[in-house]
Amino acid sequence: MDWQQVRGQFPVTNEYLYFDLANKCALPLWATETIAAYIQKQQRSGGDKAEWFATLEEARTNFARLINATLDEIAFTKNTSEGLNIAAACLPLKAGDTVLLNEYEHPNNVYCWLNLERKGIKVKWIPTQGGQVTLDSLDEVMDDSVRVVSIASTTYAPGNQNDIRAISEYCRKRNIFTVVDAVQSVGTLQVDVKELGVDVLCTSGHKSLFCPHGVGIVYIRKEMLDRMHPVYVARAGMGMGAQIEYSNITYKLDQAHSARKFEIGNYNYLGLTVLNESVKFLLNLGMENVENRILELNSYLIAKLVQAGFPVVSPHTGPLRSAIVCFEAADARALHGFLMENKAITTLRRDTIRISLGIYNNESDIDAFVELASRWKQSVSTSGSSPQ
Ligand SMILES: Cc1ncc(COP(=O)(O)O)c(C=O)c1O
Repeated sequence: MDWQQVRGQFPVTNEYLYFDLANKCALPLWATETIAAYIQKQQRSGGDKAEWFATLEEARTNFARLINATLDEIAFTKNTSEGLNIAAACLPLKAGDTVLLNEYEHPNNVYCWLNLERKGIKVKWIPTQGGQVTLDSLDEVMDDSVRVVSIASTTYAPGNQNDIRAISEYCRKRNIFTVVDAVQSVGTLQVDVKELGVDVLCTSGHKSLFCPHGVGIVYIRKEMLDRMHPVYVARAGMGMGAQIEYSNITYKLDQAHSARKFEIGNYNYLGLTVLNESVKFLLNLGMENVENRILELNSYLIAKLVQAGFPVVSPHTGPLRSAIVCFEAADARALHGFLMENKAITTLRRDTIRISLGIYNNESDIDAFVELASRWKQSVSTSGSSPQ
């Protein structure tokens, strides 16, 4: 695999130590080229809607391949949060039911469930060590009222993976729905929905799928489609075909027997055109190769941080590692500011510096980053202030 050539697709690497994919991507050349061609065509001619639809369906096919879903199980959304809200609003839940959440969920996998409390549905927290949901931790809060477990396959911080396959199997036996926030997994790690056995899985395009903001995807397991009814409906999800071209329309709420019934109105055609190119790029690289490279960089980074005396709070070894590595510092906010001033882009999350790796990063980026962070640490410990 020629990772140097992959890096060449990412101009951001010429100027920055870019470790912020878990927040948002720096667009690759293929995205800027795709966007420019799309905009120019729309400017010249208004664009070609039939072509946009064809590309959108190609994106659906390619994305389904990426996560081993079938076409009918994929709906396009705006982002992960919309997918999670679809799950919360459309799963067959009733007053008295309980939803279990990990304390380390992103806020948007919390609010959509808290919003159900007015319907008498309770939220309960799974007690975890650093975000790690185990079957034992589920046992601790399990009772007959539990109907949903909604958790991240990879937490946004500290970036541990959860064993979704084991959790969904545990849930299935108890007639509990499994909803997965997979935005910190899809695009950097292998995700196979059939193997995971989950009911709903949500992600966004603007992180490791290298899209502009405003593209998301929700997977809904085929067997769940008849049990989940959309709150919002529009023509895209109906079987009305080309009737709009005629004056004589017969209205019938004839919903698609697919996840498409959750799609509303016109699409983010531009974003989906980029999504298609990004997913093709990843499929060409092969997600196994991508994951191996990400985990190779993860090991290298953790070893360097530990060597430099930074406490890493993410898993250090083993299969629960991801593209995210978080570490503590005496004053994480001050260090974050220093890093940003020096063109090393990370995010502050849960009082730690969150580094997120992408396929464009290399060992030299990591060396330069750790050297910079060490310079700050050294200066703060000797003079009490950031280096000049
Ligand atoms: C784990 C996780 N879930 C959900 C979100 C929210 O994503 P979006 O804004 O695309 O809905 C994020 C974004 O940072 C995230 O890291």
